[in-house]
Amino acid sequence: MNLDLNEGAALVNDIFKGLPVLNELMQVVIAPPFLHIRQTGEQLTGMIDVHLGAQNCHSESSGAYTGEISAGMLKSADVEYVILGHSERREYFKEDDALISKKINQALNNELKVIFCCGEPLEIRDAGTQNNYVENQVKAGLFHLGEEHFKNITIAYEPIWAIGTGRTATSVQAQEMHAHIRSVIESQYGADTAGNLSILYGGSCKPSNAAELFACPDVDGGLIGGASLKASEFLGIINAMVDA
Ligand code: PGA
Repeated sequence: MNLDLNEGAALVNDIFKGLPVLNELMQVVIAPPFLHIRQTGEQLTGMIDVHLGAQNCHSESSGAYTGEISAGMLKSADVEYVILGHSERREYFKEDDALISKKINQALNNELKVIFCCGEPLEIRDAGTQNNYVENQVKAGLFHLGEEHFKNITIAYEPIWAIGTGRTATSVQAQEMHAHIRSVIESQYGADTAGNLSILYGGSCKPSNAAELFACPDVDGGLIGGASLKASEFLGIINAMVDA
């Protein structure tokens, strides 16, 4: 919930002006607030490797849910991706695993690609039980899906203690969790599905730490919050990915 329409348009414009050439395996997704989506979509016209995303959708397809936006509505606005299960949605809006998996079904039924977020709070990290905690989130959110849906799933690992705090997971911590998440997916869906899955790291990712994070074999990209609000920082992170 940052930037008004004019500020959002200016940010997207500045990002596009500085965007490097991406290789064919890379994608940039811009997921603005709902209000900005049409405007950002228009700015994106003709850009083949930049995609439009949303930050949430509702768990039902339509109805009397005042103030909400459905997956079908997003699809009709040419949205391609939706972020679901972000820790702020889980914490402030009390979204639990069951609700998030319903939202995932809505998104997939409407041919949206899902960026599914998971990650542990500080007390779980301090207790050393983070692998188990995140594994349970992944199972609860995704294990009801058939393997064929995984081409439309991206997982974002976001340790809650690192989101917006300036405290980043070390590359060792990120790699360890990403490898664990991949092994959890492999145990259920096999090595091909697990190997093809993109697992993003989120949590105070910035130009100064992006290269180290992206160098980890199981870190396939980033989910960027605060640093995406400044074109130069977001571009610095994209450039780190290009160089990785
Ligand atoms: P941050 O946010 O990059 O500001 O830590 C990440 C997120 O909100 O997903």
